[in-house]
Amino acid sequence: MADRQRRLVVVSNRVGPLNDEGKAGGLAVGLSDALKRRGGLWFGWSGDISEEGTFSAEHTEVQDDVAMTTIDMNQEDIDGFYYGYANRSLWPLLHYRLDLAHFDRQSDRVYRSVNQRFAARLAPLLAEDDLVWVHDYHFFYLGSELRQCGFKGRLGFFLHIPFCPPEIFTALPASHDIVRAMLAYDVVGFQTETDRRNFVAFCIRELGGEKLDGRRVRVGDRTVMAQTFPIGIDAHGYSRFATSPEAGEHEEMLRDLAGDRLQIVGVDRMDYSKGLVERFRGFERLLEDYPENRGKVQFLQVAPLSRSELGAYVDLRRELEELAGHINGRFATLDWTPIQIMTRGFTRRALAGIYRAARVCLVTPLRDGMNLVAKEFVAAQDASDPGVLVLSRFAGARAELSDALIVNPYSTDDIARALQRALTMSFDERSHRWERMREAVFAGTAAHWCDEFLASLESFDPVTPETDAA
Ligand code: ADP
Ligand code: G6P
Repeated sequence: MADRQRRLVVVSNRVGPLNDEGKAGGLAVGLSDALKRRGGLWFGWSGDISEEGTFSAEHTEVQDDVAMTTIDMNQEDIDGFYYGYANRSLWPLLHYRLDLAHFDRQSDRVYRSVNQRFAARLAPLLAEDDLVWVHDYHFFYLGSELRQCGFKGRLGFFLHIPFCPPEIFTALPASHDIVRAMLAYDVVGFQTETDRRNFVAFCIRELGGEKLDGRRVRVGDRTVMAQTFPIGIDAHGYSRFATSPEAGEHEEMLRDLAGDRLQIVGVDRMDYSKGLVERFRGFERLLEDYPENRGKVQFLQVAPLSRSELGAYVDLRRELEELAGHINGRFATLDWTPIQIMTRGFTRRALAGIYRAARVCLVTPLRDGMNLVAKEFVAAQDASDPGVLVLSRFAGARAELSDALIVNPYSTDDIARALQRALTMSFDERSHRWERMREAVFAGTAAHWCDEFLASLESFDPVTPETDAA
């Protein structure tokens, strides 16, 4: 097997695109960067809702060496599985937002059933020596369902978002079922050590498991590898995007608009985990406490709408628009609008140009698995005028990007102070910090992440309790 590369089969709710379309979401970006290199099958939801019968249509599109096979779901499945369980129960809970989490039996049922039906559709497409790699919180049960269907090959799982401490996760009525189901995978990957430790703590405290060594955990007769694999971007590709004509046009447009004002940017899906309200207040505090910035800086927040059928997201949009209106009302002059919010999508090249025009990028999530925007911003900068990254201590990216200005995203004062420091930072300090962050972004790429995970999955050696005790 060592000489022949096994086929990679990736499963995730969102599939593609492999090109430079303007779709927001770190999972799709990280996976397409990784899959383009290795090839394989990418299986998941088409993004379409069909009423013709659940899981009726199957579509396959082949691009280079990647076959993307997707299926439609009907409205009931989407409501229970995607909006209901994945995004009203699991997403807030895993992001430490127990206050926003809703639990109900019906969506739990649909979530399990969708996982089971995805497994039933995927199983016939699999060969025993495939490496099957399942992604994210939509598919916690998929591995155990594939085992039920008789799949005996290698199964890996990667969680793109945080894994909260057991004290929080146990609030989920099905928390035990979910973590037991995760034990059907051979390798379970997390973005940070904190996430991995939280998972291991759950296995030990809640399920009576034990740690065998630095990486392996055993619960009953199951042994899994729980490891940390921080996801990255295609750093070379991204810096090429940043020097493309499309990026250049966007950079120029923004620089022209800014004139001699310094540009601050934020780029995030409009999601309550991103700390946007606190960030806007931090910007307002900058204008209050450091009045010399009035008329001298402008803040562009790019925030494509996400999951906008859900109440928490509708509320957030309203709150942000009101807050932006309030800040502009308070500080704007005839020739200066302090803050602008845009909800449209951009191509990756256009976004790279926007990053390049910025003196400061604000990445201040209250909690984030990794945050690829932080890495993209670094990759897009140019040595002649590198921008400053202000980064939340609660973003997974903080582990690798400690040369950013690290802030507590809940503290308006902290954000304002960091902004002031970033706006007045000397060229030498900006360059020095950026060089070190750049090294980290180019070392921990999407390709590296993918290779490391798959190497671990290929070398996984299942250990039975007997062998281990011997
Ligand atoms: P999340 O996965 O929670 O959305 P990340 O920061 O990890 O957060 O990933 C977001 C991805 O979405 C990045 O690759 C970013 O470039 C992309 N993105 C964000 N905003 C836009 C937009 N307006 N248009 C297109 N892509 C976007
Ligand atoms: C995060 C999640 C992904 C998700 C993406 C966009 O990156 O980890 O699984 O695809 O957000 O969210 P959406 O609900 O539009 O798929």
